[in-house]
Amino acid sequence: MTRKIEVHFLPELVASESLRGATVVVIDVLRASTTIAQALAAGAKEVVPFRDVDATRRHSESLPRESYVLGGERGGVMIDLFDLGNSPAEYTPESVGGRSVLFTTTNGTKALERCREAYRVLIGAAVNLAAVCESLGETLNIQLLCAGTAGEVTREDVLLAGAIAYQLSRHDEGIELNDSAQIAIAGWRNIVARAVGAGKSVSDHLAAEFRATRGGRNLLQIGHGDDLTLASRIDSLAIVPELDLQNWRIGLP
Ligand code: MLT
Repeated sequence: MTRKIEVHFLPELVASESLRGATVVVIDVLRASTTIAQALAAGAKEVVPFRDVDATRRHSESLPRESYVLGGERGGVMIDLFDLGNSPAEYTPESVGGRSVLFTTTNGTKALERCREAYRVLIGAAVNLAAVCESLGETLNIQLLCAGTAGEVTREDVLLAGAIAYQLSRHDEGIELNDSAQIAIAGWRNIVARAVGAGKSVSDHLAAEFRATRGGRNLLQIGHGDDLTLASRIDSLAIVPELDLQNWRIGLP
């Protein structure tokens, strides 16, 4: 079988059945996938993703209060009576260490639902780019799934998909790339070239670019500009969150 990488700019653009048996990387750079990685790096026991707020609350009712925190957002802001929002900086050893994070976000946790038939589901962000690429190793069927925002494509997710696709394909001429993967790679290479041209690190350049993306503009508008800097720190975390499809929880393998 030929090795392939397919990028999907939105969950709506790929049927669940098309992801059957594949290794999927779910990408929501601003901010769900960055925050999930940060929560686990900070020592959370697991991140349990929920599609909606009510289901998150209902699940929590059966658990001892000290065993979990409620995290996530609607409209980018913390949900009423939740413990934490969706800023990666909120997820520290003090706030989540040893506890389950019951987590719901507008687009990121919805994208995970699309992967129920996948073989493996990883969480990808700029902060764990190299670790994700290493974990994908020689995988034959790689699907990079961008979460987008409310059914619209977001450039930050496409750029990260391009970064992963570029890393994996640059020494493998035989690899098959769908058109979206080729578009994403061109976008990422442009970012790297412009960072080099400006004498900046790619992370610094990426933070500046995020300010102009759809997700970035939303966050600036609601006062979460600092998250753009954290989310652009390429390879600051050497971990790969993975969704346990049987038990529907994200942890570190
Ligand atoms: C989402 O899952 O919709 C995002 O992570 C939204 C956000 O930036 O909080």
